Formats: sequence, structure tokens, C-alpha cells
Amino acid sequence: VTALLHLDSSASTTHHSTSRQLTQLFANTWQKLHGTTHYRYRDLAANPTPLITSAYCALGIRVERHGVIPLDTVDTLVTGQAEQGEWDRTRPLINEILAADTVLLGAPMYNFSVSSALKAWIDRISFPGAFIEPNTGEKRLRDTTTIVVCARGGSYEPGDPREGFDFQAPYLRKYLTNLGIAENNLTFVNADLTRSADIPGLAPFRQRAADSLAAARDTMLELATRTRTAPAATH
Ligand SMILES: Cc1cc2nc3c(=O)[nH]c(=O)nc-3n(C[C@H](O)[C@H](O)[C@H](O)COP(=O)(O)O)c2cc1C
Repeated sequence: VTALLHLDSSASTTHHSTSRQLTQLFANTWQKLHGTTHYRYRDLAANPTPLITSAYCALGIRVERHGVIPLDTVDTLVTGQAEQGEWDRTRPLINEILAADTVLLGAPMYNFSVSSALKAWIDRISFPGAFIEPNTGEKRLRDTTTIVVCARGGSYEPGDPREGFDFQAPYLRKYLTNLGIAENNLTFVNADLTRSADIPGLAPFRQRAADSLAAARDTMLELATRTRTAPAATH
């Protein structure tokens, strides 16, 4: 069991990345309370998930034709080395999510959507039926606490000039709830206007940016303190 799975997907290093700073704040706070034994980190930008291939699609389609099947059964449907390689690259990522009590996801807005690093991971883990119990149809992630940090250079609030351009947070909300994460276990923390210090046209919004970041930091600290601990160790 991994109590906390921490994923980052910004191309920038922590020094320049607001999403990384905020997820790190959560992770550090959580680790002070719970230690590092049940902590797992994956950097989707530094270690990119390989793009899915034709073999991945072929295997996925074959599995879909059988309905929802246990993940252990997928191996019996694999045809050839390319498909086996794809499944071997996919299954551990799925297991990693299923093993987590809490998923902490750092997401930068790139061109109004998520980073390609994050999308590559999403496409790979979303294997047909992977997050559904074959016997009961229950959603396997329904109890998984999920915290998504969205960092954006601009602002997408109602009334802002770019209202309606946000295909990052609304996309991730739809994607994650469709994956089976319950709405009440899903929290979004946005840091808006992160580029206001650099882009002259955004200079008037520096205070709004500072307020947004301060609120995001407070929320991360609160969430990290409140997030439940790992199951009791057996020793
Ligand atoms: C390739 C790229 C594309 C971006 N596209 C947008 C955009 O469409 N809208 C926006 O508000 N900010 C955009 N930004 C700014 C980032 O969203 C902002 O820097 C954010 O803080 C990135 O997350 P990070 O700080 O964790 O790296 C873009 C930045 C980069 C590098």
C-alpha cells in the first residue's frame, strides 16, 4: 500500500514551477506527520511515460471485447512481444494508482490544457476496465483521495477576458470523476496568474496572483494535515 502517490508534470524545475512548489509543500508536510515509508514519487516530466502505440490500442480493443476482466487476465489476451511490452509498461502504473490512498497531482496549464507529460500518463493508465471491479462493477478509485494542483499563467474566473478558455481544470475534473474518483474525494487547488511577475501586461494582477498563491499554500497545508494516515503497520 502506498499512502501517498505524488505526481508532478511541469516541464519546469521546482525553483520555477508553482505546481511543483505546492505539491512539495503538501508532501513535506505529510511526510513530517507520516514518514516516508508509504510515500511514492513520480516525475512525469523528468521520466516521461512512453506514448501509447498501435500495439497498446490493439490489446485494449481485444480486452474491451471481453467486457471488464480482471487485470491478471489481460496477460492471457496479449498477442506478441509488442503488446507484451506495452502491457508491461502499463500495468505497474495502474497498480501504483490502485495502491494509493491519496493521489497528489501537480498540473501546469500549457496552451489552455494539461502538459503533454501528464496526457501521456493519462492515456496509458486509462486501459479498458482497469479501474472497475470485474465482479461488482464498482469503481476501484471511489475511496481514493485526490488533490489536483492547477498552476496557470493567467486567470479564468467568470468575467476574466479568457473565461471559457480553461480546458485544464474542467478537463481533469471530468476525466478523474469518469475514472471513478468520487466528487467528494476530489479537491482542486488553483494558483492563478503565476506569470504576472514576468508578463508586463499582467502586472496589474500581481496582488491577485499573490493572494491566489497564498490561498493555495494555506489549502495545501490544511489538506496535508488532514489527509488520513497509512494503514497501521503490522510490526
Ligand atoms: C508551453 C507553455 C504553455 C503555456 N500556456 C499557457 C496558457 O495557455 N494559459 C496560461 O494561463 N498560462 C500558460 N502558460 C503559463 C503556465 O501555465 C504557468 O507558467 C504555470 O505556472 C505553469 O505551471 P508551473 O509553474 O508548475 O510550471 C504556459 C507556459 C508554458 C511553458
